Order: sequence, then structure tokens, then C-alpha cells
Amino acid sequence: MAVQTRVVSIFFIQLVLLAVSGLNRVSGAGLQTGFYDESCPEAETIALKTIRQAISKDGTIAAALLRLHFHDCFVRGCEASVLLDAAEEGDAEKDASSNLSLRGYDVIDDVKSAIEKSCPGVVSCADILALAARDAVRLLRMVFVFLLYFQTGGSSWKVETGRRDGRISLSKEADENLPSSNFNIAQLKQNFVFKGLTKKDLVVLSGAHTIGVTSCLVINDRLYNFTGRSDTDPALDPTFASELKKKCKPGGGGPVLELDQGSSTISDAHFYKAVRQNRGLLTSDAALLNDPLTLAYVKRQSTSPVK
Ligand code: HEM
Ligand SMILES: *[C@@H]1O[C@H](CO)[C@@H](O)[C@H](O)[C@H]1NC(C)=O
Ligand SMILES: *[C@@H]1O[C@H](CO)[C@@H](O)[C@H](O)[C@H]1NC(C)=O
Repeated sequence: MAVQTRVVSIFFIQLVLLAVSGLNRVSGAGLQTGFYDESCPEAETIALKTIRQAISKDGTIAAALLRLHFHDCFVRGCEASVLLDAAEEGDAEKDASSNLSLRGYDVIDDVKSAIEKSCPGVVSCADILALAARDAVRLLRMVFVFLLYFQTGGSSWKVETGRRDGRISLSKEADENLPSSNFNIAQLKQNFVFKGLTKKDLVVLSGAHTIGVTSCLVINDRLYNFTGRSDTDPALDPTFASELKKKCKPGGGGPVLELDQGSSTISDAHFYKAVRQNRGLLTSDAALLNDPLTLAYVKRQSTSPVK
């Protein structure tokens, strides 16, 4: 249990890093915890309450909120450009092919309107995205891993706030900055290094795929057309590949797929165990095994005395 706790908290800590690291270039310096303590003291409580309501209606929305923060931060820094609509049709980050099925915009809108009622024009959307990601993961833990939650004293993390919202959002920049699920380890590394993130960050942040979903379309080529010759990705465990083929039809039709099969509503070490067993769904998750250092981190994250 102790190790599992550590795995989970490493994941949390890394998320904080994501929020406060070089990714905040646009908002720049001046971030601090409790930035709104005087200007809007209820901001974080209102956000938590609204997100709790959303998650109680649809538990899967937690993953969506976490992913929104990631997509926001990887393009132009964490400045809410992921929320903007295009001035010209189809030209904003939302419209990029790499937006692949972002969800949860309505929850962010609800939080923003609720906060605006208390303190109009004070709290940035970028901060709301960061708070929402934190609260979503925290609430998941409270619901599903309540024992662990109490054991660790309900630890969460403080999100530094004070981000300013940007006004520019370009689909081209989303395509250039967001990693693709087809990336190999070299491409993933390069993509993260460009954001000032390390190989360890790559492994730990990929751990976000311990929750949430994808589609058969995303893994279609791994199953049916790996090198363009109707073949299957040899990096996939063969038994796992045939299980997936039963669900997913050639061409990408099929049900929603849990990224962490059998454990997609819990933030835990199971994802890393699956990756080690060649049961990672995305090419990019499987690729973490293809570098000695990332492999070592995957192993470390997957180790747990709880069987
Ligand atoms: C390392 C590079 C990454 C790649 C290539 C990647 C790619 C993807 C892809 C392809 C999906 C499925 C989307 C779909 O089916 O349309 C997905 C889902 C998701 N990603 Fe990532 N991702 C990466 C890193 C991250 C990071 C750093 C986070 C957050 C810290 C994250 C959080 C999520 C979540 C929570 C989901 C599930 C979303 C949902 O259920 O709606 N991902 N990712
Ligand atoms: C994501 O992009 C596709 C086209 O690339 C678009 O049809 C879809 O509406 C976009 N999703 C969101 C949430 O804007
Ligand atoms: C398989 O992939 C090749 C090239 O990568 C592409 O030209 C071909 O259309 C694909 N076939 C199917 C059935 O998707």
C-alpha cells in the first residue's frame, strides 16, 4: 500500500509541475497559491462544488478535465487558449485534429459562470482549467479510493493561481505542439524536452492514461494496418490484440475503449503494469518501454506490493 500511495503522489506532484513549470510562459511570473484570497475568496470552493456536481452526474468527465488542462498547457502555455473559438471557421485549437475528442468544455463554462456570479471579471479561465484538473483527480480518489484517501490524510495539492488568459488560439499550433498517439519514444522525448520536461516527466505524465477513454479508430492501424500490409503491431501482446479485434472492427468502428483496461476510473499503478505487459493501448504509451530510462521509470511506477 505504501508504494502505491507513493506512485499516486508522484503522479500528483508531477501534475503540479506541469501547472507551474515553463508551460506558464505566457502568464509568466507572479503565480502564487491563494492568488484570489482577497479578490475572490470563494473561487476555489465554488470550482470544487461545481466539479463535484458534474462528476457525480458523469464520472468519466474527470478524465476529460485533466486532459483539457494538458492540451491547454502544451500550446502557448496554460492560458486557456484551448477554450477559445476561432475568429475564422475551424481555425482554433479546438478545431485541430489533435483535439481528438476533447470533452468537458461545458463543465469549465459552468465553473466560470458560477464564479462570475460571486466576483465578476476576476478569475481567469486558465486558472479554472488548472483547478478543475486538480479537483477532478482528487474527487476520483475520494470516490473510488477512499481508503487510500484517508490514509494519506486527504492529501491533494495546492494549485498556484494568477494565470492570465490569452487571446490567440490556432489549430496549427495545436498540431505542432501536441504529441501524437503514433509518436515513437524519440518523438515523445523531443516533444517533452521542447516544453522543458524530462523523460521522467514523460513517464509520470503519461500515467494520466490510468483514467479516461479512447476509441477503436485511434488504435485501428495498430490492430489492422500497422505497416500498411494488414498486419498487427508486434509490440501488442498477441492475446490482447485478439481481444481488441473482437471489439474493434477494421476501419475503426466499435465501442469506447478504456485507456487503462479494467481500471479506467481509478488513478492507480495498474496502467503501468499493463504497459509493461504490452497491453498499453496507445503507441505512445507502449513506446515508454523503448528507452532504458523510461523503461526503468515504468517499472518503478508499476511496482506495488498490493496484488
Ligand atoms: C505523452 C503524450 C501523450 C499522448 C500521445 C496522448 C494521447 C492521447 C490520446 C490519443 C488519447 C485518446 C483520445 C481519443 O480517443 O480521441 C488521450 C486521452 C487522454 N489523455 Fe493523453 N496523451 C499524452 C499525454 C497526456 C498527458 C500529459 C495527460 C494529462 C496529464 C493526458 C491525459 C489524458 C486523459 C485524461 C485522456 C482521456 C480523456 C477522456 O477520457 O476524455 N494525456 N491521450
Ligand atoms: C475537433 O476537431 C474536429 C475536426 O478536426 C471537429 O469536428 C470537432 O468539432 C473538434 N472538437 C471540438 C470539441 O471542438
Ligand atoms: C493501410 O495503410 C496504408 C498506408 O499506411 C494506406 O495507404 C491504406 O489505405 C491503409 N489501408 C486501410 C484498409 O486502411
